[in-house]
Amino acid sequence: MNYEVVIPAAGQGKRMGAGHNKLLIKLRGRPIISHTLKVFLEDSSCSKIILAINPVEREIFSDLIKDLDPNKPISLVHGGEERQHSVFNALKSADEGGIVLVHDGARPFIRQSVIQQLVQTADSSGAAIAAVPVKDTIKKVENSKVAETIERSSLWSVQTPQAFRISLLLHAHAVAERDCFLGTDDASLIERLGKEVRVVQGHYDNIKLTTPEDLYFAEAILRNNQKGQ
Ligand code: CTP
Ligand code: MG
Repeated sequence: MNYEVVIPAAGQGKRMGAGHNKLLIKLRGRPIISHTLKVFLEDSSCSKIILAINPVEREIFSDLIKDLDPNKPISLVHGGEERQHSVFNALKSADEGGIVLVHDGARPFIRQSVIQQLVQTADSSGAAIAAVPVKDTIKKVENSKVAETIERSSLWSVQTPQAFRISLLLHAHAVAERDCFLGTDDASLIERLGKEVRVVQGHYDNIKLTTPEDLYFAEAILRNNQKGQ
């Protein structure tokens, strides 16, 4: 089943501390965002890629896309102040009627098998997200004191991709904008409408490259993936 993908790539990467957009940091000689784009260029079910970028980086991204020699359309749209604004703006360029995946540019290690399950689940139920069970014990802390230990068995760490019927996600974003609601992921915009969001179990190595030590983990994951080829 075909889908389109929205990739927010307009962040500043402040926590990575590279002094520029972290997606341009190179892993094995190629920018992080090129690794992410490659997954979708290699997936024949992906019909179109919509990349939300910071307009001042347009030339850099255009050149990088040229180097990838894409076999399908990649549209560049302007990102916004927050990730949610970037996604909403990109969504407006999606063809209504099908399934859209939203996937962070900073997660280059997503697997095709998970993408496929997400698309199928979103097609049948409206919304599906990738997540993994939490491994650590999670405590709520207030003023440096433990307020509560949260029962771990029901906790999942949520990732992207998140897959949706395009019409549903567009509606959820429009309502969130009207209500001035800012969520930390797209599924939360659906949840607040009282709609069901299904969970597809993903993989622990689908990390988001966020802080400098994530670059070491990324090298290890790349090494491991290469061994398996
Ligand atoms: N993103 C975006 N528009 C924004 C903020 C973030 O498109 N206004 C994108 C990032 O480029 C990234 C994804 O959303 O691919 C996930 O965000 P995050 O990991 O938080 O990246 P940054 O916002 O760049 O990093 P930081 O929060 O550390 O500044
Ligand atoms: Mg951010």
